[in-house]
Amino acid sequence: DAAEKGGYDHYMLKEIHEQPRALRQALSGRVDELAGDVDLDVDLPTEYLDSLEEIQIVACGTSYHAGLYAAQLLERYADVRVSVHVASEYEFGGGRDPWRTLAVAVTQSGETAETLSALREAARAGARTLAVTNTVGSTVTRDADETLYIRAGPEIGVAATKTFVSQVATLALLAVHVGRRRDTIPAADARDVLDAIRGLPGAVQQILDTDSQIREVAREYADSSAFFFIGRKLGHPVALEGALKLKEISYDHAEGFPAGELKHGPLALVTDDTPIIAVLTRGANPDATLNSVKEAESRGAPVIGLSSAGRGDKYADAALSVPDLGVMEPLLANVHMQLLAYHIANAKGRAIDKPRNLAKSVTVE
Ligand code: G6P
Repeated sequence: DAAEKGGYDHYMLKEIHEQPRALRQALSGRVDELAGDVDLDVDLPTEYLDSLEEIQIVACGTSYHAGLYAAQLLERYADVRVSVHVASEYEFGGGRDPWRTLAVAVTQSGETAETLSALREAARAGARTLAVTNTVGSTVTRDADETLYIRAGPEIGVAATKTFVSQVATLALLAVHVGRRRDTIPAADARDVLDAIRGLPGAVQQILDTDSQIREVAREYADSSAFFFIGRKLGHPVALEGALKLKEISYDHAEGFPAGELKHGPLALVTDDTPIIAVLTRGANPDATLNSVKEAESRGAPVIGLSSAGRGDKYADAALSVPDLGVMEPLLANVHMQLLAYHIANAKGRAIDKPRNLAKSVTVE
């Protein structure tokens, strides 16, 4: 067992540390830097992509958060409307032309019942379907017209970590793929995006190397009464994911929301015992988020700032820095959050790899 964990105390920690490798695998052979393009080996003809009206992403849990991140990249680079659906709430709703709709199931296991049902509903309506999964030969790969593998390698810990970053990286490649074929992103801009994606493994490693600093922050705040994660734009899905990770493995009350919503309700819960974890990176509208940070700070809340270029260090009680990486910076902030969740849960002696009441793959609706 210890050998399987590669010297780490938990699979989750091992998998967090495997992220640079998982990301390299996701990118391997897929990026054509010179052409500013990608090679994804999916059959989505250019005529079809040109006529697309909507991409619908269906997913649950962490995969849903990856879908929210990717949706913003797809809208920006592929200039197509994207809706993201919690799979259990999905309906192929009114007014849509199925022939101009691509349904994308994002599912690590490829076996989540609700995600499979949603994708089948889209297929029944006549939409083309794409599976984005980690698991070779899983049910979703048999159901979907096309499959794009995230190649993260097996994930044992119930709380998804390396598969989240791999999903986002792979979907970011898809956004470039669709955008290049629809001619909505110039090669030079695509090259910048690809540079950021290719910088992920190294940048994630830089964060992993600061683990002892994150552990100290975790120790300091572990006994807080609740944790609030805030972010805007690409920082929003990351805030949701950060809160989900923490609640899954520490059993603490954690909530994530768009930073602007703080003043519309959650601020009533903010005290000097509720740390605010704020995404203050590029791609997450950091200047506006700083206003939210100040609102919380003036109510006495400790601020844990995850920022690039030293933004917000002035307001943060704990500042965790994120390397410069353009639109991928919020994803790097997420790595800090994974480690923070891990160390808080570990300080409390929780069953990190198998949290109570949860399953790695939920095959009933
Ligand atoms: C379960 C797992 C989560 C996961 C979700 C979706 O709830 O505990 O970690 O995010 O299922 O799983 P999928 O395999 O579809 O990505």
